[in-house]
Amino acid sequence: MATPQEILEDLKSVNYPGYTRDIVSFGIVRDIEIGSDTVTVTLAPGGASEQAVAEIRANVESRVQALTGAKVEITVDAPPPPRHREPPRRNDIPGVKSIVAVASGKGGVGKSTVAVNLALALQAKGKKVGLLDADVYGPSVPLLLGIAESTAGSDGDRIQPMKAHGLTAISMGMFIHRGQPVIWRGPMINKLLTQFFREVDWGELDYLILDLPPGTGDAQLTIAQQAPLAGGVIVTTPQDVALLDVQRGIEMFNQVGAPVLGVVENMSFHVCPECGNRSEIFGHGGGKSMADKSEIAFLGDIPLARTIRETSDDGNPIVASAPDGEHAKAFAQLATRVEEELGKQAHEELPMIH
Ligand SMILES: Nc1ncnc2c1ncn2[C@@H]1O[C@H](COP(=O)(O)OP(=O)(O)OP(=O)(O)O)[C@@H](O)[C@H]1O
Ligand SMILES: [Mg+2]
Repeated sequence: MATPQEILEDLKSVNYPGYTRDIVSFGIVRDIEIGSDTVTVTLAPGGASEQAVAEIRANVESRVQALTGAKVEITVDAPPPPRHREPPRRNDIPGVKSIVAVASGKGGVGKSTVAVNLALALQAKGKKVGLLDADVYGPSVPLLLGIAESTAGSDGDRIQPMKAHGLTAISMGMFIHRGQPVIWRGPMINKLLTQFFREVDWGELDYLILDLPPGTGDAQLTIAQQAPLAGGVIVTTPQDVALLDVQRGIEMFNQVGAPVLGVVENMSFHVCPECGNRSEIFGHGGGKSMADKSEIAFLGDIPLARTIRETSDDGNPIVASAPDGEHAKAFAQLATRVEEELGKQAHEELPMIH
């Protein structure tokens, strides 16, 4: 009997219907199991058409049969939920190239901190970046960027965003006074966010970063639906390494047809400011293993550091206040990984055969 490796090698001679590339390099062969008299091959043909799947099945079956002489069973993994990317339409924001949403299953994990510093790190790489604080209940972007509240202006029929540390930003916090309760109902939030997307004078941006409210439920989904997302980033912490939370985040992005760029682990480890020793208070690496389990990319980890919190509270985030420091480097790496993953999205889609 041949080994699974030999079978896999042999299957490299089966091309994807209509393509010169083989099914193995497309990642369609997921598993090969050798039983006593059967070989089971699991295929994951992704978004392939029924006809293409039937053709791949038949070809795999006859190759494996010829090689092993055994009975061949083929199982086909269900395709992932359809990525119905809405047609390029009303939702496109003129001048804005890519919209990236930052989400988390739970509150307080550092979404806003990551969103702001990621935006600054992308800017440090020469990109034009905007920040949309979609957390209308608990807007924190004005505080983080040191923008005074109720300072938004309008210019005719366009809303003028704020400029802070080079970023173009808008937040509900710019329209309200501190302490003033805001009671929003669903339709009002939708209307407000639509205005944030369409009526704000964003200018030319390479990236618009969305700081989503905590959670991955209907409210977040509604916001994510407002604009065509180029991708989603999921923030987690070592204490929060609940696989389910990350999977809910993945599901949410799937539902709006946005690729998940990956997971970032925030407050991941602590570096002693005096001695430089690294301690992993909560146990570190959960984000990475979770990303592996969910088959999404790991985008890096951000240390737990008092200066990150203090600079944020001062409206002068760490990437802006200490651009050459260790912590800014962690965000620079995150920015690089985010750009890499965005770049991959453009190439990684499986071919669709019609
Ligand atoms: N890496 C870090 N090191 C130290 N403190 C941090 C770090 N990341 C975030 N914090 C602090 O943790 C608190 C929560 O962070 P942040 O507001 O960014 O979280 P969030 O997920 O946006 O919260 P919310 O769910 O309320 O929107 C803040 O005080 C912030 O300064
Ligand atoms: Mg927040």
